[in-house]
Amino acid sequence: MTKVLVIGANGSVGRHVVASLVEGGHGVRALVRNRAGSALPAGVEVVEGDLTAPESLTAALDGGVDGGVDGVYLMWPGIPVQPRVVELIAEHAERVVYLSTDVPDLADDEPAVIFHQEIERLIRHSGPAWTFVRAIDFAGNALGWADQVRTGVVRWPYGRARRSLVHERDIADVAVRALTEDGHDGRKYLVTGPESLAHAELVRIIGEELGTEVRWEELAPEAAREQLTAAWGNAAFVESRLRAWESFTREPERVTDTVEQVLGRPARSFRSWVREHADDFR
Ligand SMILES: NC(=O)c1ccc[n+]([C@@H]2O[C@H](COP(=O)([O-])OP(=O)(O)OC[C@H]3O[C@@H](n4cnc5c(N)ncnc54)[C@H](OP(=O)(O)O)[C@@H]3O)[C@@H](O)[C@H]2O)c1
Repeated sequence: MTKVLVIGANGSVGRHVVASLVEGGHGVRALVRNRAGSALPAGVEVVEGDLTAPESLTAALDGGVDGGVDGVYLMWPGIPVQPRVVELIAEHAERVVYLSTDVPDLADDEPAVIFHQEIERLIRHSGPAWTFVRAIDFAGNALGWADQVRTGVVRWPYGRARRSLVHERDIADVAVRALTEDGHDGRKYLVTGPESLAHAELVRIIGEELGTEVRWEELAPEAAREQLTAAWGNAAFVESRLRAWESFTREPERVTDTVEQVLGRPARSFRSWVREHADDFR
């Protein structure tokens, strides 16, 4: 049995990491900021801590009378990077699996464009065995359409952009394999869904699974830029998303067989994700 500290245990991937570890009979210690707001499965040790105050993680890592952990699942919630967190993990655990995204590798002297690259670099130099689970956009991002789905029309740019959204449970299952068995050290797994589907097709599938008609309406990029900047408050992020979606109309987002290679079964479909989340769209 492996004992794992799950950081971000309530997160959209972390909750599946917890479930998958519990199912596999492993020990789970879950880090949350507020125990009261967490609904974690029975048998999971819940410990409070905050990534903005690295030393608050010490109790979760050394465990006092409950003992330490073998591995750590780490996600980073987009707050300023705290190198001390990675140092503390290295002082206490033999293995770390980091939830990253599709980023290019950086040379040691290259400036990071995104925090994931900075954390990957810190982990690479920290000591413990590591695996990066680099995920393409989560299927859960489709919940951003939920309000529009309820009106029967989704207005969004680039209906022909072909995406390979991944089920969060598949990301978690790959992370758990890397945490609990040998052979994954130093691997950078690009995890995607099993096929690429255009934005408009994703919306059609949502409608089919809900048993209701949901129409796609193409939104001009200029209008999308304005609306998404108002909604997300980050013009640079909106710009990078629009650029990526436009590129996926010409060349589909990559599809990898990582899930199948690591888990020995096909990746879950977007349709199965919608079926599981149908109530979130109603
Ligand atoms: N969405 C995508 O398409 C996508 C694709 C690739 C990679 N990613 C990456 O995935 C990560 C997000 O993972 P997720 O979706 O599983 O998480 P999530 O659903 O966004 O949940 C955020 C988690 O972060 C925790 N958290 C926030 N601030 C914290 C702090 N100061 N100290 C400790 N914990 C804190 C929350 O814990 P509490 O329970 O304490 O609130 C919660 O568990 C991000 O790094 C993102 O860049 C996302």
